[in-house]
Amino acid sequence: MEKYLINPNQKISRINKDIYGHFSEHLGRCIYEGLYVGEDSDIPNVNGMRCDVVNALKEMGIPVLRWPGGCFADEYHWKDGIGPKESRKKMINTHWGGVVEDNSFGTHEFMELCSQLGCDCYIAGNVGSGTVQEMSEWVEYMTFGGLSPMSELRKQNGREEPWRLKYFGVGNENWGCGGNMEPEFYANQFRRYATYVRNYDSEKNWIYKVACGPNSEDYRWTEEVMKRADWNMNGLALHYYTVTGDWGHKGSATEFSEKEYYTTLTKAYKMDEIITRHLEIMNRYDPKKRVDLIVDEWGTWHDVEPGTNPGFLYQQNTMRDAIVAALTLNIFNKHSDRIRMANIAQTVNVLQSVALTDGEDMLLTPTYYVFKMYKDHQDNTLLGSYITSGKAGEEGAQLPQLIESASIDENGVIYATVANTSAQDAAEIKCQVADFEVKEIKAEILAGKPGDYNSFEDKECVKSGEFSDFTACADGFTAKLPACSVVKFVIK
Ligand code: AHR
Repeated sequence: MEKYLINPNQKISRINKDIYGHFSEHLGRCIYEGLYVGEDSDIPNVNGMRCDVVNALKEMGIPVLRWPGGCFADEYHWKDGIGPKESRKKMINTHWGGVVEDNSFGTHEFMELCSQLGCDCYIAGNVGSGTVQEMSEWVEYMTFGGLSPMSELRKQNGREEPWRLKYFGVGNENWGCGGNMEPEFYANQFRRYATYVRNYDSEKNWIYKVACGPNSEDYRWTEEVMKRADWNMNGLALHYYTVTGDWGHKGSATEFSEKEYYTTLTKAYKMDEIITRHLEIMNRYDPKKRVDLIVDEWGTWHDVEPGTNPGFLYQQNTMRDAIVAALTLNIFNKHSDRIRMANIAQTVNVLQSVALTDGEDMLLTPTYYVFKMYKDHQDNTLLGSYITSGKAGEEGAQLPQLIESASIDENGVIYATVANTSAQDAAEIKCQVADFEVKEIKAEILAGKPGDYNSFEDKECVKSGEFSDFTACADGFTAKLPACSVVKFVIK
């Protein structure tokens, strides 16, 4: 029996709701087909945004959405995506599949999407192939309320009031697809570009500026950028993807051995070490902890589904992906004192999506259910908690079988989420909540075999449901968590 201790007296940090954020790029069928079908589509939509996906994302509690890229951001010229649709420029999306981008989804459409979702906006600007003026004018177009060339242009295009822009990214992966820069060079570029990302209304529309951070374990990037950070930098954005094999042979999303299952989870669990090491460097240069860590791209990256465009990054999503999501979100919660936002890649039809579409059909993936179960943590206070656990996987493995986090809301309700990473073994746990008198416990579970997934033929193979295999006691509960499961306990 493993021991699980939750201490409501130890209130650690606010879990910013934006840790549960998402990312959507002009890539494959994420924006077009996945989120936006156009006003004239037969697929039910409101102003071009498909209703089924928007409703599902709202129900899941999406707090913030990042757009337009990714690599696409550093070749995106925002003026091509405004004004009458018939006169918008067309371009080739050279990064992603070489398809024609007709720019029918641009700034106004993105803001409309966020407004329908009821979420905040996070826009990534173009440093790689754009100018300082272009970036500066985009921010002016979106956020300036007074009289100026860009605010007039916005009004001509039908939008009187400025939009609320919460986050602005100064470039994306500028160590790679965003210009192949050295960190020293990028740091200076950041200082230059960010100077002109003006705060036109610091009180109501203050813009949080995100600098391009490191790729995975590139600690030199963090070191060099933090050395040169100035007051303009509010967050540094790390990217870390879980790739089971190597970049040439990543491995199938649905066909994998038990060994590969554990490899995936072990690599996902590395997120904890990567975050810890980047934070150590950041804290050295920024002892007052002014600059937050952002993880604005994360998730599993498998081989594309057979027969699909390799540039579209379309992959299925199994219980293995759900466990990756659950353990990663628990890690983010535990680091919520320093992590302000995270964005899983990518919302629909690309990489570790929460929804997949096929024409007018839509399904929700196992990862969707994890986000929906975990939404209760949003804006709660992280509590001190600890679970004893053996390791899962082969001899010598470093992956804990049980990975958890716990939070408390403003009404004193405690939410504890536990992932059982073992493919074979259930786990018996005894939970004790310090100085707490339990009146009621409810629980929800997502479980299955590692390879289980939802298909268009069987959309409900994996879904969350009520969990009752627990016994409440005066100060906690005992429970048996099935193998390969995620369980949320709501303790009142
Ligand atoms: O999410 C897919 C791609 O991964 C993004 O465009 C890029 O930023 C990263 O390399």
